[in-house]
Amino acid sequence: MDDWNARQYLKFEDERTRPVRDLLAQVPLERVRRAVDLGCGPGNSTELLLARFPQAEVVGLDSSPDMLRQARERLPRCQFIETDIAAWTPPERIDLLFANAVFQWIPDHPRVMRKLLEWLPVGGVLAAQMPDNTEEPALALQRKVAAGGPWANDLRIKAAGRDDLPAPETYYDLLRPVCSHIDIWHSIYNHALAAPQAIVEWFKGSSLQPFLAALDGAAREKFLAVYTEEIARAYKPRFDGKVLLRFPRLFIVAVR
Ligand SMILES: C[S@@+](CC[C@H](N)C(=O)[O-])C[C@H]1O[C@@H](n2cnc3c(N)ncnc32)[C@H](O)[C@@H]1O
Repeated sequence: MDDWNARQYLKFEDERTRPVRDLLAQVPLERVRRAVDLGCGPGNSTELLLARFPQAEVVGLDSSPDMLRQARERLPRCQFIETDIAAWTPPERIDLLFANAVFQWIPDHPRVMRKLLEWLPVGGVLAAQMPDNTEEPALALQRKVAAGGPWANDLRIKAAGRDDLPAPETYYDLLRPVCSHIDIWHSIYNHALAAPQAIVEWFKGSSLQPFLAALDGAAREKFLAVYTEEIARAYKPRFDGKVLLRFPRLFIVAVR
């Protein structure tokens, strides 16, 4: 996918980092010598990994130069590697593979998760969180606007929508045979945001990116304007003018 814009992503850092904390809280390890933050982004998740396991050697891995630049500025003592997770093989003696909000972007990611788990030593942990929000209005409206405008037949636009996540049972059947323990759960967050426009800003840092990257200049502005109108219709202000962004997320903690 196209490069991520770290600054846009970090506009909602507090909200985006909350699932990192919730995932980390369920990692059943006391001591970690080596951990890898898969899809480390601008280093927000890497920073929390380091805070939980201060003795550990923590490496961040991402495919986006923009994200890695921010991560290196934030954590100059950490090593960051530019690579595609799907093509990466973990080095030996990794205790923890941590992946917050990244596997949803990787084609056939359940198989990639299984391959990574198989590489872990016994007792090693793969901890992952993915947005499970493709049926939420904010994402359904991206597909609606994509299908309804002059860009509808553009192949990049047609391919820009995110696939639904598989059901928990699919992960269980694929991962459980190579685990000693697996924990799968959903959490639904309700983020109070300042206004409908804030929902647009939120998704400009994530799932809107593939749509916007396929358009140029005026078309991009038009797409955003139509999407903003749709969002304002779907997310009504609460008593204080704020809107609630409902956000279901899937968590998986698997012990090799
Ligand atoms: C939503 S951000 C998550 C950032 C951070 N982990 C967090 O918890 O907020 C997803 C990150 O995954 C990276 N990414 C997406 N596909 C990737 C791939 N195939 N290989 C490596 N990184 C990838 C993106 O560049 C982006 O920085």
